[in-house]
Amino acid sequence: MTKIESLLKDERIFYPPQEGKDLAYIKSRYQYDKIYDYSLKDPDGFWTERAKELITWFRYWDRTCYWDFNKAEIRFFEGGKLNASYNCLDRHLLNPHVKNKAAIIWQGEHDRDLRVYTYQMLHDEVCRFANILKSLGVKKGDRVVIYMPTMPEVIAAMLACARIGAIHVVVYGGLSAEALKSRILDAGAKILITADGTYSGGRRINLLNNAETAIAQCECIEKYIVINRFGEEITLSDKRGLLFDELIKNKEFEKYCPCEEMDAEDILFILYTSGSTGKPKGIYHTTGGYLVYAAHTTQWVFDLRPEDIIWRPGAVGWITFHTYVVYSPLALGATVFIYDGLPDYPNPGRWWELVDRFKVTILYLTPTNIRAFMKEREDWPAKYDLSTLRILGTVGEPINPEVWIWYHKNVGKGRIPVVDTWWQTETGGHLISPLPYTIPQKPGSVTLPLPGIEPVIFRDDGTSADINESGHLCIKGAWPGIARGLWGDSEKFKEIYFSRFPGYYFTGDQARVDEDGYFWIMGRLDDVISVSGYLIRTSELESVFVAHSAVAEAAVVGMPHEIKGEVIYAYIVLKDGFQPSEELKKNLIQHITKEIGPLVIPEVIQFVNDLPKTRSGKIMRRILRKVAAGVYDDLGDKSTLANPDVVEKIIQGRKEIF
Ligand code: PRX
Repeated sequence: MTKIESLLKDERIFYPPQEGKDLAYIKSRYQYDKIYDYSLKDPDGFWTERAKELITWFRYWDRTCYWDFNKAEIRFFEGGKLNASYNCLDRHLLNPHVKNKAAIIWQGEHDRDLRVYTYQMLHDEVCRFANILKSLGVKKGDRVVIYMPTMPEVIAAMLACARIGAIHVVVYGGLSAEALKSRILDAGAKILITADGTYSGGRRINLLNNAETAIAQCECIEKYIVINRFGEEITLSDKRGLLFDELIKNKEFEKYCPCEEMDAEDILFILYTSGSTGKPKGIYHTTGGYLVYAAHTTQWVFDLRPEDIIWRPGAVGWITFHTYVVYSPLALGATVFIYDGLPDYPNPGRWWELVDRFKVTILYLTPTNIRAFMKEREDWPAKYDLSTLRILGTVGEPINPEVWIWYHKNVGKGRIPVVDTWWQTETGGHLISPLPYTIPQKPGSVTLPLPGIEPVIFRDDGTSADINESGHLCIKGAWPGIARGLWGDSEKFKEIYFSRFPGYYFTGDQARVDEDGYFWIMGRLDDVISVSGYLIRTSELESVFVAHSAVAEAAVVGMPHEIKGEVIYAYIVLKDGFQPSEELKKNLIQHITKEIGPLVIPEVIQFVNDLPKTRSGKIMRRILRKVAAGVYDDLGDKSTLANPDVVEKIIQGRKEIF
């Protein structure tokens, strides 16, 4: 492969704030360096200390770390016994300061839909749910699919499964019946938990129809439980259906439900990936290592303290929800805020109003979320009191430096840290991220690896890349939170993650390390286009587009070209107040050639209202690549798209150009 040049050479540095530093878990670069060195020299010692400090075990383990990447075998805390539900609930009931504090604050789209669960209340709800599942014959190792909107019952159901040793499979409520069916069948699930529906932008969304259509073709489902969200009578179309409201009339279910003693390596959950790159994979995580790693990263990266209120808006069927909304904040006894509604309904200030009203302290968004605010709602954050915020996070895609700076300035008021966290469903938790009060930040860089993580960058031939030379991001050695396998396909697990560079975990991402040791993630390998012999990162081109004052969002793909091989095709979303025009196109092309170089000339610029994205905010480049190439059918699986309607509009726009 030709060497890939990096286009982004951002020099701006933001130093961690002094305020808040004294209380932080990790306070200085010096302390970070010392811990980092220790963690690599003595992983057994390091992970033993973290596991004992953060998690309550029924029995300690016999062996701390074991891995053999050649066999794709990974085990942490072998022989250790624990229960995730116990760690998130029961142990807090022993502490009078935590027992009666809010564990979950839930706000629905209507202001009147507001519920608060204290730790005691959530514990009781989880026991009840667990007893119901047990009464339906659910046993350790059985799979339970949860297909619901963002509601406290999702968390209760997850913790109920964990309590009795069942494996939960949370599927995002926006997925189609077909997508749900394939996940149920792949997991071989016995029970489905769902709801009648939810509200979105004032409209009702029916979930039950999808759920019933899906299970009509799933013999493995023995029963499905329906939670009532609308408060109206529910008619079930399948005799396997049970109404939650009927089940809870049985007072027997209110009894205490004991926690199953789980082995550290027993499976906690399966999660199907968002599928921005093809067929969904059922990634599974095990109890001990995952829980330790979730709590560990949350405590250091978000500097999470018991008095914090953490909010990560977004879908339940995503790893971020599992790790940073459910398992780690609850294991650490903090408060979680969850919201079931759109960011701009009933007005574009909704999210900021919620931060203000509920005094959120840690906010975790995607670059896509932030760009949406920059597009049309730029002045909205200023209308609210956001002074309770103390840490901002971002995840999911490379953040354009301009977007990072906007977030830091307009939401953080320039006074609080922004942590750009790089990780994957497969990694269980953050791997490369700044520690908020410790590491000076360069917008666009995910900065340094967390303790215990040793990333390396390889060229195609397996030799190490030089400073600032991009290549394949791989990780040497395992960490407790790494996935243990793909459900039902151990060979594929080995093949995808451990065969490209033997002895290393292959992330599939491209990255470079600069002269200060800072990591810059450039996206997936297929997000590279070859223009006049140069290989160019689409994410970097997008960042340059977004730095133009008229551009809100950009997605760049390669379009096959008879003579040139491949050319740049850019889909551009304009900020409010800007109109598409030939003049603006020329202006954008000039901007690119000025910022990058005279040879990099976008061939096609198509103005669009919106880009196709997964629920987790990732742009579906696979679809955009096909449309750019003039392929309008055979667009592949669109079920994970948050906004499938935009595809048709984009196709229309393409046809108008050619
Ligand atoms: O390409 C990287 C990108 O998201 C991928 C993982 O996606 P998923 O498994 O859905 O998990 C999302 C939640 C962690 C990565 O391979 N990615 C994630 N975080 C970042 C990122 N790219 C750049 N910067 C990030 N902070």
